Amino acid sequence: MIFIPINDIHEGMILAKDVKIYNHESNDVDLLKEGLRLSNSNINRLKKFGNVGLYIYDGTDNNEGPIQIIDNALKTEAINELEKLFSSVDKNPKRVDDNALYSVNNVSTKIVDNILHNKKYMVNIIDLKMYDDYTYHHSLSVAVLATAIGLSLELDDKSIYELSLCAILHDIGKTEVPHDLITKPSKLTMDEFNIIKTHPIKGGKYIIKNNLITESIYNGIVCHHEKYDGTGYPYGIKGKEIPLYGRIIAIADVYDALTSSRPYRKPASPSEAIEYIMGGNEIMFDPDIVKAFLRKIAPYPVNDCVKLSNGKIGIVTKVFSENPLRPEVKIIGDDEKYYNLYENQNLYNIVILQSL
Ligand SMILES: [Fe+2]
Repeated sequence: MIFIPINDIHEGMILAKDVKIYNHESNDVDLLKEGLRLSNSNINRLKKFGNVGLYIYDGTDNNEGPIQIIDNALKTEAINELEKLFSSVDKNPKRVDDNALYSVNNVSTKIVDNILHNKKYMVNIIDLKMYDDYTYHHSLSVAVLATAIGLSLELDDKSIYELSLCAILHDIGKTEVPHDLITKPSKLTMDEFNIIKTHPIKGGKYIIKNNLITESIYNGIVCHHEKYDGTGYPYGIKGKEIPLYGRIIAIADVYDALTSSRPYRKPASPSEAIEYIMGGNEIMFDPDIVKAFLRKIAPYPVNDCVKLSNGKIGIVTKVFSENPLRPEVKIIGDDEKYYNLYENQNLYNIVILQSL
């Protein structure tokens, strides 16, 4: 496959990689699937909503798009199982649906297995956002991110599986909070916020009734909104008093929330979200976990297409874990030109504006 700028795309070309078309006016997302023969109307819509280029089949064996940390089938399975579990809480908040919870646990185990298998790769969370940002998608993204952070912290395997399950379930208490409060597009009143703040304890209480749930998982769910400086909730505990899984999920949760689309705002770019996490170091977040997170997050993964501040467009060819915001980029239309944004001091004034 090759990447072709949008103005050189013409009818009949075949997509080599799925493409999402975001319509920020209506907040809709359409998916054009790999293998689609493009029509003029597809191309015009892609131009209208800002896509600058596409991966197209060119008859070569070079089929490397960005590495997917978990595959599409597993993403779909995870979303379906989470949907079942969350709706079972809606129907009967007094009793855990054991079957639904065991299915989610199976999915969570598969997620960890996938990530362990792809251990050497960094995580590109944008890749996980398929159609929209319902709680299930958020839960899945947080599980992947938390697992990646756990690996970066070199936790043992048992803890990694526990952490993944804890992360995928972290917001289950939201099903016991009125839905219109969760989705309210305007600012919450103090009373409304106080109701939202009950979800960690509600989630913990709900889930403890099942024997899959260890004390560490319970503590992680209950403490995922605690802050490192003691200003979080529900208990206002601080520093390392906050249980480890809670400190890890706090970062994964905020990073994913910032990079997700909301009814009242566009998603932050990965680099803006990373800046925010770095800004919250030692205030909201544990500095050791911020470091572990930065080692493992790839806002611009290899083979990603990016737009630079000098107007050029390129493909990421190498990522440096010391500074994932400044990878090496091969400029499109100039085969020999590589920008090493991390090591080449002459390029320090150039930044990546966005992933395309
Ligand atoms: Fe939460």
